[in-house]
Amino acid sequence: METQRERLRAMAEMRLGVNVDHTATLRQARGGAEPNPVHAALQAELAGATSIVMHLREDRRHIQDEDVRLARRLLRVSLNLEMALNEDIVSVALEVRPAQATIVPEKRKELTTEGGLELTGLSQEALGLLERLKDAGIRTFAFIEPDLAQILRAKELGLAGVELHTGRYANHTLSMDAWQGERARIEAAAQKAHALGLVVAAGHGLNYQNVRPIVKIPSVEELNIGHSIISRSVFVGIFQATRDMLSLTQR
Ligand code: PXP
Repeated sequence: METQRERLRAMAEMRLGVNVDHTATLRQARGGAEPNPVHAALQAELAGATSIVMHLREDRRHIQDEDVRLARRLLRVSLNLEMALNEDIVSVALEVRPAQATIVPEKRKELTTEGGLELTGLSQEALGLLERLKDAGIRTFAFIEPDLAQILRAKELGLAGVELHTGRYANHTLSMDAWQGERARIEAAAQKAHALGLVVAAGHGLNYQNVRPIVKIPSVEELNIGHSIISRSVFVGIFQATRDMLSLTQR
């Protein structure tokens, strides 16, 4: 059992998961071997990332099964496998056994994960797949909207934590009022989830400009960031891009 002291310490430090999917997007553009997302993951780890995130999509548009296997073997920090509750992907997860799995909704035509998972409406089949992940000892999170009903359901399902979707917050076309409202919604959801004993992560659309107000929410313990770090890495390398983000995620 985690003690109250350990919990408070965890809250004081913000963890950073670096999502390396888009190094694989670049590789897949030519169908060759470069750049390898596992090389990116190792550089991010060396820079201080506390976990590495890979989204193994059903259509395998970027990360491939072999990337996940190799990352699991080589990384010292936790591998967080983002995935849909789909038989094929769950079987890869059960073989590779990442430390953490984050369940996301997936649509074939979307450019990126569009909304949070509708936990209240999972099919019997999806619930069965979720149980198999939990039974394998994988810390299972759900990527959800900052919404009370979803949080209560996450708790009911026995999940280890939730990742709150910051996509709306990160939408730069929002008015100042709407933006503040969205941040307040995330903060309230984070507090509620934390009070229920869920670990609280947040992510999607976070970048070097908009991350600080989210860092200041005490009950958010982990941020998962991909696109902005990989974009910056084109110019400064992934080690430096991770360092730059880490300097902003200190409380
Ligand atoms: N968290 C989840 C659940 C995601 O699906 C994504 C996108 O793959 C991210 C975080 C990272 O989002 P971004 O690439 O916009 O930083």
